[in-house]
Amino acid sequence: MKNLLLEFLCGRVIPIKIVILRDYESLSRQAAMLVAKTVRSNPAAVLGLATGSTPLGLYRDLTEMVQQGFVKFGRVTTFNLDEYYPITRENPQSYYQFMQRHFWEPAGISAARAHSLKGDSDDAAEECLHYEQRIRQAGGIDLQVLGIGINGHIGFNEPGERLQAETHLVSLSGETIAANSRFFEKAADVPGMALTMGVGTIMKARRILLLASGGHKAAAIRETVRGPLTTAVPASLLQAHPRVTVMVDREAGRYLAGRCAP
Ligand code: GLP
Repeated sequence: MKNLLLEFLCGRVIPIKIVILRDYESLSRQAAMLVAKTVRSNPAAVLGLATGSTPLGLYRDLTEMVQQGFVKFGRVTTFNLDEYYPITRENPQSYYQFMQRHFWEPAGISAARAHSLKGDSDDAAEECLHYEQRIRQAGGIDLQVLGIGINGHIGFNEPGERLQAETHLVSLSGETIAANSRFFEKAADVPGMALTMGVGTIMKARRILLLASGGHKAAAIRETVRGPLTTAVPASLLQAHPRVTVMVDREAGRYLAGRCAP
């Protein structure tokens, strides 16, 4: 069954657009330009947003563009990819607080328009269903921004035999807990689970922008864009999406042939 699905997807593969930038600063600038252009041409766009250290430069540059009057986010609707579970929204390590600090507040996105999964919901399954409904009601995601884990995860869709299509509760892999422990005092403080959009939720976005920076992401990027479609590298399934741009800096793109964009 799994192989049939992969064969079907492989038949529809459209080359991913790859943009290799000199360094993290140019990567952030180019990514910010793409997001800003999307919002300038559709001020009521629905954006899917990511956390992690990679999009920090993107959020910083977008905030600067807002301050300079180049773009306004007052009418956009946003949906965050994922959230730890269990975690309260008041916890400084929650993705809710991350977004509030680094983007929603400085970009002027009101609480009513900024959606994220509730990491302290009593009923995780219900919260996930409700999130899918809210995305549908908003008309679907126009542009989904993604980072990538060193193991090829997107959102918190971890490598494995199976992937879930819709938003769901997931146990985090040891690798992800170790990688994310840098944001916590100690690894034991990282919640062992998370709520995440599923790969299907991500694939329904009309356009996808995946960002990666640094040599530690190079192998995951190579497998994402050049490897076979496999649930062992969840990001590789993006090859079956018709409109994906992968923006990387030189280090993250070191296994891909191609020259740097200016
Ligand atoms: C976390 C997030 C992902 C993110 C990844 C990479 O696990 N759930 O959405 O892409 O980390 O993070 P970083 O950008 O810090 O390398």
